[in-house]
Amino acid sequence: MRPLIIANWKMNPANSKDAFDLARAVVRGLEGVEADVVLCPPFVYVPQLLPSPNVFIGSQDAFWEQEGAYTGEVSPLMLKNLGCSYVILGHSERRKLGETSQMVAKKIQAVLDAVLVPVVCIGEDIEREMNITLKDIKETDVSKIVFVYEPEGAISTEPNAKPASLEQLERALNRMRTLLPKTATILYGGSVNSRNIQGFMGKGVQGALVGAVSLDAQEFIQLVKNAVSM
Ligand code: PGA
Repeated sequence: MRPLIIANWKMNPANSKDAFDLARAVVRGLEGVEADVVLCPPFVYVPQLLPSPNVFIGSQDAFWEQEGAYTGEVSPLMLKNLGCSYVILGHSERRKLGETSQMVAKKIQAVLDAVLVPVVCIGEDIEREMNITLKDIKETDVSKIVFVYEPEGAISTEPNAKPASLEQLERALNRMRTLLPKTATILYGGSVNSRNIQGFMGKGVQGALVGAVSLDAQEFIQLVKNAVSM
């Protein structure tokens, strides 16, 4: 299986030169590596990052309309026109700022309409979050979505963060699979690093959503290589 590893840079780095250098190091270090990698920088750096045959560009959010009077928002269509191919939606850090599953549902549809791949984060409240977010999405579209099981307490920057145990991951995957088509892509997110990625992959996820470690080019490259050599 070809792993899919998505880098969530969050609100980092602080300047565009560092963003450019980080992306360049990752692209070079992963040349010829049999994995699909997506770099999701803050919106402002999207135009300067160039995709390679195995490193794609994504964003960390998008609005649910394609254009109009929505101060401060960025649309899926704009991201598509800048070369993005993936959009992270419903991350728990955005939910904490007030984003609801109903809002995530509208964003998923808009991202699909722009022919981009939604990367939808699902926390511990699996059934509730999935039922609301998928309620109005066509069955054929559900298989175009990448799902990420990402329990909030596993995110490395949370106080007392702990990655999900392999048993917890297995239980969550079983719950998610009962609600999804067989072909659905499911990733794991939360304190993933080069040493623990193989354990998570061994439970049947197709890859990972990586935060803190994705800001360290060498450690991130090693993580991707370890995912490939499963
Ligand atoms: P982390 O973040 O890898 O630093 O735990 C993951 C995420 O928040 O997407």
